[in-house]
Amino acid sequence: MTGGPFCFDPWALYTAGELTNPNTVLAGVIGQGKSALAKSLAVRAIATGRRVYVPGDPKGEWSFVAEAVGGAVVRLGPGLPTRLNPLDAHGMGTAEAHGPRLRILGALGALTLRRELRPSEHEAMEASLAAVESHPEPTLSEIVDALAVHTTLDGEGRDLEYALRRLVRGDLAGMFDGTSTQRLDRAAPMTVLDLSGIGSDDDALAVAMACASAWLEHALVAGSAKRWVIYDEAWRLMRSVPLVRRMQAQWKLSRAYGIANLLVLHRLSDLDAVGRAGSEARALAEGLLADCSTRIVYRQESDQLEPTRRALGLSTAERDILTTLPRGTGLWKMPRRSHVVHHHLTAAELALFDTDAAMRDEP
Ligand SMILES: Nc1ncnc2c1ncn2[C@@H]1O[C@H](COP(=O)(O)OP(=O)(O)OP(=O)(O)O)[C@@H](O)[C@H]1O
Ligand SMILES: [Mg+2]
Repeated sequence: MTGGPFCFDPWALYTAGELTNPNTVLAGVIGQGKSALAKSLAVRAIATGRRVYVPGDPKGEWSFVAEAVGGAVVRLGPGLPTRLNPLDAHGMGTAEAHGPRLRILGALGALTLRRELRPSEHEAMEASLAAVESHPEPTLSEIVDALAVHTTLDGEGRDLEYALRRLVRGDLAGMFDGTSTQRLDRAAPMTVLDLSGIGSDDDALAVAMACASAWLEHALVAGSAKRWVIYDEAWRLMRSVPLVRRMQAQWKLSRAYGIANLLVLHRLSDLDAVGRAGSEARALAEGLLADCSTRIVYRQESDQLEPTRRALGLSTAERDILTTLPRGTGLWKMPRRSHVVHHHLTAAELALFDTDAAMRDEP
């Protein structure tokens, strides 16, 4: 609004005591430039030595960006050659890898069963993991086979076995059911998990994200570089309760590892899709939001003004400008100050971040 330049580095502001955490939420209606802003934050941060991780890109619009900065792209989808093994030890010993492996298996079980695991199923899972974890590279296929043995012994775990079988023989086969075809390059400036090949199947997306998050944990603990973790289209990812739970666990670790998370939504009522008010899932999602010291709001529909004001603690004056914001312009709300900021894209950025090409009549 003042016409002056605006600079944002969540780590610098955190160190200066301006922010209580480096996490950021970015909300705005379709096509207002949220992804373009996220990409600029990413690319410009890389220029100052930061790294960027995009743990799930359902539209496949980040690959060009990663390639342009010399980063790595992992493309997952039915029929594509890439496979990620969610049970990868990433150099850990068997004892050390046991806990993380059990957690990812629990999340995959809950996702494919579409409900929480029963205690007996947890036990079956643990027994199956114990049966295969002495192998050099245990896989999901081996877990499913071990579950089948366990099931015939005492009848427990049959539902779980059938649910997980979907990842081995069903429609999700070939993506997570063998040894990994790709190694995580921790030194890459940007790593993008391109999930556009998965299409509109939210189940498959959630499973891929859960497996990717197991990878992410290892990227987080290694190295000292500050890192942006960007959840573009977070509203889609947050429909899955086990995923929200894993995100929350990772956010707890974030501060210790110098991570700044960026959550991109359309509107705050996207959180309604996570669960009913008062439910555990909803509380988790609201916790993620509360853990974002910086709130960037792009244009909102008029029916969203009050919910947005309440959820983000805006003043009425701040609320009232939200319907008038032009593309690329947002309200940046930080604990002690707020700004209206227009995002200038450089010519190179504009060419790289364009998501409108399909809408135009090219000559
Ligand atoms: N600050 C800006 N200045 C000029 N053009 C911009 C700006 N921000 C975005 N654009 C253009 O607007 C188009 C849409 O932007 P973008 O994809 O970032 O929107 P979005 O908010 O992420 O949309 P969606 O909700 O569909 O994901 C892009 O083609 C981009 O090049
Ligand atoms: Mg976008």
